[in-house]
Amino acid sequence: MIGVFDSGSGGLTVLEALQKQFPNQDFIYLGDHANAPYGHRSNEQIVEFTKAGVDTLMQNGCKLVILACNTAAAVALRTLQQNWLEHAHPGKRILGVLVPMVEAITGVPWSKTSAHLENHPPHKNIAVFATRKTIESKAYDQEVRKRAPGITLFSKACPGLVDAIEGGAGDLPVKGLISGYVQELLAKHNNIDAALLGCTHFPLVKSYFEEALGKNIKLLSQPTVVAEALQSYLQAHPEFAASGDGITKIMTTGNVASTTALDAYCTRHSIKLLTVD
Ligand code: DGL
Repeated sequence: MIGVFDSGSGGLTVLEALQKQFPNQDFIYLGDHANAPYGHRSNEQIVEFTKAGVDTLMQNGCKLVILACNTAAAVALRTLQQNWLEHAHPGKRILGVLVPMVEAITGVPWSKTSAHLENHPPHKNIAVFATRKTIESKAYDQEVRKRAPGITLFSKACPGLVDAIEGGAGDLPVKGLISGYVQELLAKHNNIDAALLGCTHFPLVKSYFEEALGKNIKLLSQPTVVAEALQSYLQAHPEFAASGDGITKIMTTGNVASTTALDAYCTRHSIKLLTVD
């Protein structure tokens, strides 16, 4: 069983790609709606919340957990891997969404299990839209620069966008925020050739980004890249790939009545939504 964790509903964009890629795999999704959004939280809080989420998923039988949250992956993943996982859950693994994206952007594999790279030719000038915390972590900049110094990232923090998506702010305010952020970035840089939505919530409103960015800027799809990367990972580590019945369980730490996107996903896929304390 594979766990998928996000601060809220954004990780559903990754879960959907994983369900498509691995139809026989069992998944448990956990959205930490009680504490979302993470984008303006302290690093300590993000580490604690992420640890609690991963712990819940592992207590529920997951041997492998994907942090389908760029903020948690940028801020908490390494700390949990180095200081917590091995004594709390020996033999289990946590992976993030940042590594596969850096591989896809740079075309440089992180390890020899990254056979999915040919599909993703590198671009030169890439816009990154993400939460304030992900941008401040500089994780994308540092990892991309190390591997491909010829690629330049132009980062744009999008405060308020996750709140607007989670809170069901409606189409107009969400579209307005996106077009404002995109225009601010494009006004400063007219050489952008690709864009990464570096927050898993943003593909939920991908069409607004596409509209604002225009036809000449290629939108890089993080959910697809993560699913392809996991395929390579599981081929190299079959012990985490026990095939199941294609059953997905969805849990939230929040109030079921107010988690609109999650509720809609469960209805669409006929999944019962469960709460955890
Ligand atoms: N989906 C999370 C991400 O990818 C959103 C973080 C938040 O809760 O602000 O960063």
